[in-house]
Formats: sequence, C-alpha cells, structure tokens
Amino acid sequence: MKKKSKKFNPWEVSGEVDYEKLVKKFGVSHLKELPEIFNKNILFRRKIVFAHRDIQRILEAVKNKKPFVMMTGLMPTGKFHIGHMILAQQMIFYQKLGAKVYIAVADLEAYNIRGQSLEESRKIALNEYIPNYIALGLKPFNCEIYFQSERSKNCKKANAYYRLQNVLARYATFNEFKAVYGDINPGKMLSVFLQASDMFHPQLKEFEGKMPVLVPVGIDQDPHLRLARDISKRIKSFVQLSSTYHIFAPGLGGGKMSASDSNSYIALTDSEKDVERKIKRYAFSGGGATLKEHKEKGGNPDIDVSFQYLKMMFEPDDKKLEKIYNDYKSGKLSTGKLKEYTIRKINSFLKKHQKKLKKARKKVNRYLK
Ligand code: TRP
Repeated sequence: MKKKSKKFNPWEVSGEVDYEKLVKKFGVSHLKELPEIFNKNILFRRKIVFAHRDIQRILEAVKNKKPFVMMTGLMPTGKFHIGHMILAQQMIFYQKLGAKVYIAVADLEAYNIRGQSLEESRKIALNEYIPNYIALGLKPFNCEIYFQSERSKNCKKANAYYRLQNVLARYATFNEFKAVYGDINPGKMLSVFLQASDMFHPQLKEFEGKMPVLVPVGIDQDPHLRLARDISKRIKSFVQLSSTYHIFAPGLGGGKMSASDSNSYIALTDSEKDVERKIKRYAFSGGGATLKEHKEKGGNPDIDVSFQYLKMMFEPDDKKLEKIYNDYKSGKLSTGKLKEYTIRKINSFLKKHQKKLKKARKKVNRYLK
C-alpha cells in the first residue's frame, strides 16, 4: 500500500494527526473545567473542542456579562460537509451566549494560496457556507459576515481594516516567519497579515472598540495565532487574543475530511442514497475482520469512523453513545448494525436540515455587511 503523505501546516493537512503531540509542540493548553453552559454542548463535553489559549478572558466576560467578539474565518473550497459543522456549531453557540460574531470569508487567501478566483470563492461562500450556517441556526443579529477582498461598503471601516493589515507588518520579522511557517512566500505572508487583521480589527474604534476576542479554529491554524499574539505583545494596543482548537472530523477513509475528495466527506446536500452508499462503502471500520472474529474479540470504536460521527455530531444522548461504545467494543454490536444506525441518524438530520437550507438561501443578504 502506498503510504499517505503526511502534511501539517495552516494551508495543508493530510494523513493522521497526533493532537497530543501538537498540544506540546505548539504550547497550547488543554481545555478543562468549563462552566455548565459549555458542557451542555457536546463539542465541549466530549472534548471535540479540546485546547485553548487564554480562554479565561472569555469565561470572565461571559460570567460578568461583558461584551466580547467571536471571530473566525473560512476558506471557501468545495462543498459544505459535516466536518465544517464543527466550527459552525461553535459560531452559533457563542452567538447564543451573547458574543458579537465576525466571520471572514478568506477569498484573498484562497486566491493567493490555492489559485482560486475571487468569483469562485464568492460563489462557494454564498451558495454553500453561508446558507448552511443559517440553516444550522446562525442569526443575523450581532453577526457580520464579510469577504477579505471587500471588508465593508463603509469606507472608514474598510480603510481601518486594510490599514491594520499594513501597520502590523512593522512588528514582525522575516526570521520569525521562517521559524513559524518554515516554507514562506509573498502570498502566504500577505495572508498571514490579513488574517491577523481579521482577528484584531474588531477591536478598532471603527468596529467594536477594545474588548476580548475569541478565535475558534482547527488546530492547524495555531501558527497564525502564535504570530498574531507575538505581534500584539509588541504593538500593545489590543486585548490579547483568546483561541480554542477543535479536532477535525475524520474523512470517511480516515485522515482529514477533504472537500476535494467527494468520497471522503458527507455533504449537507447529499441525498439519502449518497449517505447510505458512502457510509456502507467508504466509512472506515474498527470492527473485526469477519463477523465471527468481531463477535469473539469485539471492535475498536475509537478508530471507527461511523462511531466518531455519532460522537462528534449525530448522537447527542450520552447514555446511548456509551451503550453503542460498549456494545461495539464487546462485539455485541456489529459493524453492519453500527453503520445502519449511523446512516439513519445522519439522514434524519439531513432531511430536516435540507428543508431549512431552502429557506436559508433567501436570507443570505441579511448577514453580509
Ligand atoms: N485561514 C483560515 C482557514 O484556512 C481562514 C481564516 C481567515 C480565518 N481569516 C481568519 C480563521 C480569521 C480564523 C480567524 O480556514
């Protein structure tokens, strides 16, 4: 078998990811002891969101009912799939918690790094990402979604955002870039400063003013946070950034779910038949090689992709999940039955979601600022 290439940087993730190793290497902290309101959400309770930097500043703001911003971004490529739901659910969670929500569509980053046209990025954001966020529950109140290439029609605001991207440059060195990113080029460098402006600009007077900002991201994005936080220490005009890190939903065959391989993901627009076919045919199984062996020795839910999907997204009931875990491990529950259950769960979710999606498509403009 050909060995899958392993890459891990903010622009490319492939192969298996060792999260524990990254926590140590990046110097982020494990998330522990969260308030009850967080633990009601399966992403926190089940440690799908597992690490952070400076989350206490956000917890304090929540506790004292002080304003804060949740700021994050998306690289608009391909279809919106179940892996993207993990970040979307966090946006919605923080919005309900009272955060002002800022979402950047990274069309300039996609242009410079992926060679994708601005038109294509816009189309994907408007047809895939934003309607799905809305259908999942994102509200227009306290929410700004913008394109990196077009921050605002209000020129004072737009100027402030692009000005910030440029003035930040004085506070970083080339050696620092090389140390953080290894392989660096002009397009990547500009994207890094633009993302830093994404993360800091909510604190400018043209926007919300100085206040805590939480950036929830996949852990591949931590290099951007490290660099931005170092810049912030030197520039001294912002409240330091807080961030949280989530694990990636595994692709059907293992590794990271990738929008460029339709057999690695389940899109939120997939049909019942698609879901059935993909789970049955491609979902990596932690079960025994034969039914007999499975019954005797049991399976491994921790590497089973169907089980991971239930855990991360589709089985909110802890008791049921635990029973599935134990029954699969003991061999009482077969891979076939686990897959059938997963297919049913995903399809019942998608059926409702796709109805909402139809309505959501008409509301997109209300979210763009
Ligand atoms: N680089 C991010 C990605 O590839 C997208 C992004 C752009 C972003 N600006 C951001 C993420 C600001 C967090 C905060 O997905």
